[in-house]
Amino acid sequence: MAFRKFLKPTTACLRIQRAVGENVAASVSPKNIKTMDDIPKVSLPELMYRITFNGYYNQMHELQLYYKQRYGHMVKVQLGSEITVTLTNVDLVEELLRKDEKFPCRGNMTPWTEYRDIRGLGYGPFTEEGEKWYKLRSVLNKRMLHPKDAMKYEHVVNEVVTDFIKRIRFLRKMSPTGDLVSNISNELYYFSLEGISSILFETRIGCLENEIPAETQNFIDSIAQMFTNSMLATVVPKWARNYLPYWKRYMGGWDGIFKFACKLIDRKMEDIQMRLDAGQEVEGEYLSYLLANTNMSKKDVYGSVAELLLAGVDTTSNSLVWALYLLSQHPKAQDMLYQEVTSIVNGDKIPTAEDINNMPYLKAVIKETLRMYPVVPVNGRVLSKDDVIIGGHFFPKNTSFSVFHYAISQDETVFPEPKMFQPERWLRDGRARPNPFGAVPFGFGVRGCVGKRIAELEMHLALARIIQQFEVKLDHNIREVKALYRTVLVADRPVNFHFLERKNAST
Ligand code: HEM
Repeated sequence: MAFRKFLKPTTACLRIQRAVGENVAASVSPKNIKTMDDIPKVSLPELMYRITFNGYYNQMHELQLYYKQRYGHMVKVQLGSEITVTLTNVDLVEELLRKDEKFPCRGNMTPWTEYRDIRGLGYGPFTEEGEKWYKLRSVLNKRMLHPKDAMKYEHVVNEVVTDFIKRIRFLRKMSPTGDLVSNISNELYYFSLEGISSILFETRIGCLENEIPAETQNFIDSIAQMFTNSMLATVVPKWARNYLPYWKRYMGGWDGIFKFACKLIDRKMEDIQMRLDAGQEVEGEYLSYLLANTNMSKKDVYGSVAELLLAGVDTTSNSLVWALYLLSQHPKAQDMLYQEVTSIVNGDKIPTAEDINNMPYLKAVIKETLRMYPVVPVNGRVLSKDDVIIGGHFFPKNTSFSVFHYAISQDETVFPEPKMFQPERWLRDGRARPNPFGAVPFGFGVRGCVGKRIAELEMHLALARIIQQFEVKLDHNIREVKALYRTVLVADRPVNFHFLERKNAST
């Protein structure tokens, strides 16, 4: 069996003994160690059946719950010649992530890397691996990962929030009821793209204007084109690329993304050069830092900025959609949040990053939103250095693991009443703290999300201001909103909200 070959049985025994010595408590004896043979298996035909006939195509997060219920905490899924071991138990995930290596790897990044290779572009934090990834991250982490770094972007983000609130006011005024904003996912997408662009490019790109500039619209369309064709570029055999249109479209999508990003980066570089030539100091934040203060080549800056940009839009915007949806369904929680915001920020004053530090309930609302709707519902690791033992099973090095953390954050043994929206569970007010491995929406360790602090800053400042200004109610024509899996968890229908003016709100 191909699977047996994968385990390399002739050397397995020796390797198990070595792995036991290195990885598990001394109480586990080698003869009690199980292998991958002892884990239930889902074959490709079965997976295809579930996806096509059981309707899991858009519900891959729900498939996690199904597997857990049917097979238990560990199941191996065969995808072509590759096997992935999925974990749906908090202790197993902790065991795996605590064995994270110096250069953690999430797994194969084709076809993203293919585009970069064909066009001779540099890899960014998503696609780079090993020592080169480590060096790249140590440059990128600065000015981004520490909460104090992120606070520096407060003014930039608050300017974007102000324009977003203006746009909400404009849209509600145009609506038949005078307070309705339709398809909030679209509006929050524009907000997030404008927010992350103004941080990364130090330039506004006009997403929140009444007429979006043509260049920016092309860029938005290119992102959509790349993502729409990404799935086919991954699964369809390479020989089909010359006969079917998906590959050309996929490459075209990336070309559009890089064209836009490179133009803004080049513009910034010229600006920096002019200031240097004039003997002036180079001020500015992220892009200026990358261009003027690091040894990164232009090629690598292009690669990294494009990846940061892509990772930072759908994630943040959809998390805000879910936060508003949950608050609209839980008026008491919305009121608690309103009371907290107004107790810290008087009148129409704009909440600052420092104010946010005094708003534990706001932070808890975002944490609980990401527990219920972790927009990136699955993560991965390939331990490539050593064989490992997880949950008493021996795995040869290079085994691919999928962390099904959506299923874990819905587990009632980890979070009592998991279907209930209870921001209080995150408050540090003396109650037992949730297991930190129970909800890992931003991943874990040195390979965890580099944009976590920026995303939190954007979400906190936006949500505080929205709730300060408006009471948010779901359009009564919309019933329950469900999550669809589209690489990130998105709403299954356009979500419209009434934004009811709070007293004294005017900005
Ligand atoms: C709510 C918002 C966000 C969520 C839930 C999220 C989630 C994640 C997750 C789960 C990972 C994988 C981490 C791991 O493997 O342990 C990740 C990686 C990453 N994220 Fe985010 N993310 C968000 C926002 C952002 C933003 C705003 C940016 C950019 C500024 C960003 C940039 C990245 C990058 C570049 C990586 C790859 C890091 C690496 O491989 O070294 N993310 N994110």
